[in-house]
Amino acid sequence: MGDLILGIETSCDETAVAVVERATVVRSSVVSSQVELHALFGGVVPEIAGRAHIRELVPVLADALAEAGVSGSDIEAVAATTGPGLAGSLLVGVSAAKALSLVWDVPFVAVNHLEAHLYASFLEEPDLDLPLVVLLVSGGHTMLVLMEDHGRYRLLGSTLDDAAGEAFDKVARYLGLGYPGGPAIDALSGEGDASAFDYPRSMVRENPDTLPEDRRYAFSFSGLKTAVVNHVRSDPEAATADVAASFQEAVVDVLVTKARWAVEATGARGACLGGGVAANSRLRERFLDVCTETGVRAFLPSRAMCTDNAAMVAAAGWWRLTSDGPSPLDTGADPNLGLPLLP
Ligand code: KG4
Ligand code: ZN
Repeated sequence: MGDLILGIETSCDETAVAVVERATVVRSSVVSSQVELHALFGGVVPEIAGRAHIRELVPVLADALAEAGVSGSDIEAVAATTGPGLAGSLLVGVSAAKALSLVWDVPFVAVNHLEAHLYASFLEEPDLDLPLVVLLVSGGHTMLVLMEDHGRYRLLGSTLDDAAGEAFDKVARYLGLGYPGGPAIDALSGEGDASAFDYPRSMVRENPDTLPEDRRYAFSFSGLKTAVVNHVRSDPEAATADVAASFQEAVVDVLVTKARWAVEATGARGACLGGGVAANSRLRERFLDVCTETGVRAFLPSRAMCTDNAAMVAAAGWWRLTSDGPSPLDTGADPNLGLPLLP
């Protein structure tokens, strides 16, 4: 049961629908990005996002079914992101998924967006080694998770303020590089000198044991953002590419250092990246280096699988359906939903 799953993702500014077979074969994955609508405002405007999801969802659904070469009657379960995300945006996908599950008379599966980012890697590499350290870095979240088994997560640490993607977006905005900032900084950094400016690396020490336990895997990026802004104000002649590259290096340094500590302390056998920032070239390069040095098997999802998409929602949905069965139809959207953690 549930071998052909339809996934729906509308938690933020991507309207996405995918058809996935047994959490491993992507039959179609259609993503309609609203980036252009929000670029004008320098960030996602919730009201605009919700309305765009309503407009886009049905055409995207039709495309996803057509590309997969299936009709509604072939779909065996419908999975949708129920949180975390923007309330008005989530509701569009959740309501559509419930309606489809009723019309097609198939189970509805509620999917946690963070768990979906984790499953993006399993979708492309079903034989990932467990326990697995996952560095989940997106526009809304930055966390290090130890995945002991399917559905069994331990949170090692998360950000105390801004998410890594948020820091990329805010710094890019300040530097006049537009929205979303991550890809812009990534591209411009290629032309800059990453050692030009020594920006702060928060809660990083030579020896992790010298940090209090609750800070060891914690992140903080708001001080770094302020340091970049203050520096550019005092040194307006600084080359933007050097600022971008030095900022990116500071973020990546912190992320890979803590990922290394996590791998070493937990004895994990595998490590992978997830979330939009996992598309960052420098992070991918340095994460692979760390995994090689520590002897764990690394997996980097393809760039399309890092940013929001519905194939990862369908894959996570298949695992949830297999372990927990269908979700009740009165499951609502939950903007603050957290990753289900082990006690
Ligand atoms: O996972 P995602 O698509 O949406 C959320 O769930 O947040 O992540 C979007 C974030 C944005 O902050 C964007 O700037 C960042 O991922 N991002 C990148 C890159 N591509 C996307 N950050 C750094 N380098 C990139 N190449
Ligand atoms: Zn996401």
